[in-house]
Amino acid sequence: MGFLHTCILISTALAAVHARFTPRKSISCSSLAGGVLGEGYNVTDAEDFAAGSVNASGIINQFSLCRVQGTLTYGPDDVPVKNGANILIWEIYLPSSDYNGRFMVVGNGGYAGYIDEESMMVQLNLGYATAGCDSGHSLAANGNTAYAPFLANKAETGAWIHNSIALTTAVARTMTTKYYEKAPEYSYYYGCSTGGAQGFALAQYYPDLFDGIYAGSPGNWYSHLVLSFLWNGLHTTGTGYMTQDALDFITDSVVSACDAIDGVVDGLIENPLLCDYNIANLECAAGQSSTDTNGTVLCLTSAQIQAAEAVYTGPKNLVTGDEVYPGLSLGSENGWIDQETVLYETYTALILKEVVFRDLAYNVSSFNWGKDVSKVDAAASPLIDEISTNLSSFQKRGGKLIVTQGWADQFNAATWPIQHLEQIQTKMGAATTDSFLELFMVPGGGHCGSNPGYTHVPGTYNVIDVLVPWVEQGIRPTEMMSVTPPDGTNTTRKLCPWPNTAHYVKGNIDDWTSYTCS
Ligand SMILES: *[C@@H]1O[C@H](CO)[C@@H](O)[C@H](O)[C@H]1NC(C)=O
Ligand SMILES: *[C@@H]1O[C@H](CO)[C@@H](O)[C@H](O)[C@H]1NC(C)=O
Ligand SMILES: *[C@@H]1O[C@H](CO)[C@@H](O)[C@H](O)[C@H]1NC(C)=O
Ligand SMILES: *[C@@H]1O[C@H](CO)[C@@H](O)[C@H](O)[C@H]1NC(C)=O
Ligand SMILES: *[C@@H]1O[C@H](CO)[C@@H](O)[C@H](O)[C@H]1NC(C)=O
Ligand SMILES: *[C@@H]1O[C@H](CO)[C@@H](O)[C@H](O)[C@H]1NC(C)=O
Repeated sequence: MGFLHTCILISTALAAVHARFTPRKSISCSSLAGGVLGEGYNVTDAEDFAAGSVNASGIINQFSLCRVQGTLTYGPDDVPVKNGANILIWEIYLPSSDYNGRFMVVGNGGYAGYIDEESMMVQLNLGYATAGCDSGHSLAANGNTAYAPFLANKAETGAWIHNSIALTTAVARTMTTKYYEKAPEYSYYYGCSTGGAQGFALAQYYPDLFDGIYAGSPGNWYSHLVLSFLWNGLHTTGTGYMTQDALDFITDSVVSACDAIDGVVDGLIENPLLCDYNIANLECAAGQSSTDTNGTVLCLTSAQIQAAEAVYTGPKNLVTGDEVYPGLSLGSENGWIDQETVLYETYTALILKEVVFRDLAYNVSSFNWGKDVSKVDAAASPLIDEISTNLSSFQKRGGKLIVTQGWADQFNAATWPIQHLEQIQTKMGAATTDSFLELFMVPGGGHCGSNPGYTHVPGTYNVIDVLVPWVEQGIRPTEMMSVTPPDGTNTTRKLCPWPNTAHYVKGNIDDWTSYTCS
């Protein structure tokens, strides 16, 4: 038994699933241009492409495909309406050979505003009929600058995370069914970051649409995530600011203190919650300079120590004392540079100005960590959060949800998905939760892949390889393989469903088969 047995089961399951779908007859691609679509939808192009002829940001189509592009108009109530004021752009890749019978929608990142064709192509190359969208607004018309018009428009703000994938699914599933003259056998969603939040939105608001959902590094408590950006940014400005060298200095110290706790010295921490580390020990001695004459960091100033402690603690409601969002974890420091600067300017400032206070002159430094938190909850949460602890509709229809979260995520507090999992367990019961939801924590993992400070950590998580057998064969994943670290080596690692972690058994420490989850 154990992992070998599971591996055999999984490969048998995948082989069976792949064999089940034989290439089937399809209607011509161009015939999809004349729509059977309802009001509000428009097909702008339907075209065949030979294998090897489409290059999506460096990923080439391995199979021939029918590409359908179009728009839908929606709003003001987040439904497609003819001549609605808001436009969503969608796209579908339909494999015309090697279709695996499954439907897939990919999500967006950040403020979205464009179709992630690269992610679509990855799925096309696995045989999925794949759709994507721009989330209901165009980034070109919005930008990550001082003002994002879509945040001032309720339907567009609602589409961004809550509704755009569902809007897209309605048209894309119809097109897929029409093309193959058969409905897809299973439907999957794949997204990370904002896309992870979109995944939770599907489970909460559209539980019937998908059989399997992957939500990576989920920003699903978006309103409080951006408050954590503000907290971290304001606490690290001025004398508390830490240069990248200072951040690397902290991570080097933390990792050397805690690396061996899991019994393997591999330049990362398996479970930072077990790491008992006191950053105050890095404080400069009286009169000591924090850098040498070459600029090498030797120690931290007391202002930097306080700043780092604030980031570990995370934002607090200064009236109630409640946690507003968890802090960042030990070992993630080398990824904090954006927390110190751009994140609160790019995200928090716009959301507070446009969604919460509706005042473009609002100064984020004046945010009141007591009374203003409830203003954020009232104005922003209904539009951009998806934090229900009762996902029973999704669970009851047989849906499966897999979450991944890097312990060294540069943006999202690593313990937020753990907290949310525990809240769901409390609400729905541990056994019910286990039957449909799993969280895989990634030691040394960054935001939706690698943290650049951990180049030896595999940044690709083989989620589909375990999600599909769970949905289609009922095989609950007991482990997941991660591959392709940025350093180019063949290191593989074993990711485990939380609260399990990987334990070394024997063999090459850079080979995932040398570990077991428990
Ligand atoms: C819909 O398609 C027609 C042509 O088929 C085009 O003239 C029109 O501009 C399109 N509308 C949108 C909103 O894309
Ligand atoms: C595909 O596009 C990328 C840029 O996105 C380019 O670097 C690469 O050379 C292209 N590959 C081919 C085969 O054209
Ligand atoms: C500064 O760098 C130079 C050249 O690498 C080296 O010789 C010197 O020892 C360094 N000084 C300190 C204080 O480390
Ligand atoms: C915002 O408020 C802070 C603190 O009061 C002040 O230092 C800063 O200059 C203000 N920024 C702007 C753009 O007014
Ligand atoms: C969860 O929501 C469903 C309706 O969607 C409701 O019937 C059920 O009672 C709720 N469960 C709990 C534990 O609140
Ligand atoms: C990775 O490469 C090393 C050296 O090239 C080799 O010894 C090892 O077996 C490889 N590991 C795996 C899992 O392929």
